[in-house]
Amino acid sequence: MVRKKKIRQNEYLTKNPAVAAMLDKVHKIAETELPVLITGETGSGKTELARHIHFQSGRKSEPFVHINCAAIPENLLEAELFGVLKGAFTGAYKDSVGKFFTAQKGTILLDEIGEIPMHLQAKLLKVVDEKEYYPVGGTKSEKINARIIAATNTDINRAVEEHKFRRDLYFRLNTFELYLPPLRERKEDIALFFNLFIHRYVEQKKIPFPKINPLVLDVLEHYLWPGNIREVQNVVEVLMISKKKNHRNR
Ligand SMILES: Nc1ncnc2c1ncn2[C@@H]1O[C@H](COP(=O)(O)OP(=O)(O)OP(=O)(O)O)[C@@H](O)[C@H]1O
Ligand SMILES: [Mg+2]
Repeated sequence: MVRKKKIRQNEYLTKNPAVAAMLDKVHKIAETELPVLITGETGSGKTELARHIHFQSGRKSEPFVHINCAAIPENLLEAELFGVLKGAFTGAYKDSVGKFFTAQKGTILLDEIGEIPMHLQAKLLKVVDEKEYYPVGGTKSEKINARIIAATNTDINRAVEEHKFRRDLYFRLNTFELYLPPLRERKEDIALFFNLFIHRYVEQKKIPFPKINPLVLDVLEHYLWPGNIREVQNVVEVLMISKKKNHRNR
């Protein structure tokens, strides 16, 4: 049980044998420079796993840079990734560095990689192959020295079949493909994360650990958790807040 155990930072928790076996592999993968592709449903722990790989690697004291490709408008994504030279387009009043530059010597997590438009996929392929890129408006290439981790919650194989994602880029990125199963397929992790988030909550609020009725855990294990670990986190927050209110109303 997580309750009494002090949780170390950067520890990637699981009680599921398949995820534990994958973590054993992760420690070896972390030592390499090769790209990694992490797949899994929303909230299943992909970003956390990318961070874990970074902190297991020799790059751990360098930056870990996270970019959510789905959250940035298509016309700005290239500038965000590769930087812009002054005058490249209206509004580019000064040079600005991109995420690849910021991530030098460290790790860059390209999140929601499936959302990258085709013309940028071609540029990314060149980055992975030739380890260099051109800032927007630039004619001189810049070297990259960032370890690339890509993540997606979409069915990337299907996107490849439907010609929405370049097959050659997919093959470059999935040198190591790590799949995080949804919580409903690793039921032993439900109680683990439930306890973990209560533990974090009580530590932060400096309140005692509440008594949990074992029936609650039984109910939790039968729920399907479409939002996975993040949903457990949200449920714990709501539960703890309502516990506090009930306490006050007594
Ligand atoms: N193994 C783990 N140990 C501890 N905390 C975890 C673990 N996996 C996930 N978490 C926590 O669960 C939450 C959801 O995880 P994360 O953000 O990594 O999911 P995700 O798959 O990247 O989600 P999305 O698809 O929305 O980007 C985060 O708060 C994260 O810190
Ligand atoms: Mg994420």
